[in-house]
Amino acid sequence: MPTFKAIVIEKSDGGQKVRLTDFDEADLMEGDVTVRVEWSTVNYKDGLAITGKAPVVRRFPMIAGIDFAGTVESSTHPQWKPGDRVILNGWGCGETHLGGYAEKARVKGDWLVRLPPRNSARGAMAIGTAGFTAMLAVMALERHGVTPRHGPVIVTGAVGGLGSVAVALLAKLGFAVIASTGRPTEADYLRSLGAREIIERKELVGAAKPLGQERWAGGIDTVGSTTLANVLSMTRYGGAVAACGLAGGMDLPATVAPFILRGVSLIGVDSVMCPLERPGRAGERVASGPPGANVIHPHHPPPPPVSAGYMPLEAAKMSERPHRPAFEHAALALGPLRQPLSACAHPPARRLQTAMRIDDYFETGWMANQSTTPSLEIIEVRSTDRERL
Ligand SMILES: NC(=O)c1ccc[n+]([C@@H]2O[C@H](COP(=O)([O-])OP(=O)(O)OC[C@H]3O[C@@H](n4cnc5c(N)ncnc54)[C@H](OP(=O)(O)O)[C@@H]3O)[C@@H](O)[C@H]2O)c1
Repeated sequence: MPTFKAIVIEKSDGGQKVRLTDFDEADLMEGDVTVRVEWSTVNYKDGLAITGKAPVVRRFPMIAGIDFAGTVESSTHPQWKPGDRVILNGWGCGETHLGGYAEKARVKGDWLVRLPPRNSARGAMAIGTAGFTAMLAVMALERHGVTPRHGPVIVTGAVGGLGSVAVALLAKLGFAVIASTGRPTEADYLRSLGAREIIERKELVGAAKPLGQERWAGGIDTVGSTTLANVLSMTRYGGAVAACGLAGGMDLPATVAPFILRGVSLIGVDSVMCPLERPGRAGERVASGPPGANVIHPHHPPPPPVSAGYMPLEAAKMSERPHRPAFEHAALALGPLRQPLSACAHPPARRLQTAMRIDDYFETGWMANQSTTPSLEIIEVRSTDRERL
């Protein structure tokens, strides 16, 4: 049986081992579509899985990688044919189903989203699961009626993958964004993404009062624990906070005061099993074309157009099948993705997301960076690859 290269996590009595290996195609799991993977992302959860810092992987051996973009190689699914360009994120890949850090993946066709023609596979993975989740969080705030008119919004863990995309998206939507970070040296980077104000992480890590001074109309929290408790206690009357992550802890030492005395809503955001939606839903959103793409909401006064006119979301016209509009929204909102792409060439601290080209990854190797958050970084991006951008 043919083999392909994959990063495989194995577990034995001696503990967890991760290696780059030749994986037998016969050992791929059940699925009706086989994809030749081109790009994947280095996500927080991938870091946890590979370093073994949290029990993310629930089947061994496991191919890591919770998302990928690539081309359909074979399919018995009615919606997909060889040559189709696709994206996948979540659905248990890299956790319970063999994931994307491999030259091939076999998955359910129902999990796949068509790669919008204007996006490259690399661009899609520069957004990655974190960017997709950031967009889900923004949409959740909108569903709860939080608009730029209501006041500023806070993003915690703002320099991280999810946080930085959230800052960029909210700023493009016209919100005054307060970015909370433990890395104040990255203030200029956050301002370049559109943050209006930077506050230090330590302001939000102490024990939260039941009700604090009302500082923001809403928030996107990637940190959890006391940080989320403080964000809630400082949210204005009727505001909403989207909880996305646990970089600071899984607990939530809060009181019910913000909910029952200020009508604040706490919204959970999940990207893994987030259901597919009908294209019409995506069509509610419009975006300006490149080069300065900008997302607007039909109920908001649109920001000044940066290019000629607005056009309907391409994805809505493109496919009759259900899909996850947040991906396309994020792609369009971030426009030509200059920042993520240049971030790829300079991987370490400043990045929206670290996209990685599967072949490069295998050629240059990888390392686990356990010194800060348990995430992985590409050591190097080949110069030929940079030239192609
Ligand atoms: N709900 C979902 O479906 C979903 C999807 C993707 C990710 N997530 C979760 O979202 C979180 C962020 O993911 P990511 O991809 O953005 O990770 P990331 O790129 O590693 O960023 C995490 C950020 O969190 C902040 N941080 C780290 N440790 C902290 C601590 N002890 N206290 C306070 N802040 C801390 C840092 O921000 P600063 O440098 O700015 O301080 C860091 O950059 C993770 O918990 C991840 O599991 C959830």
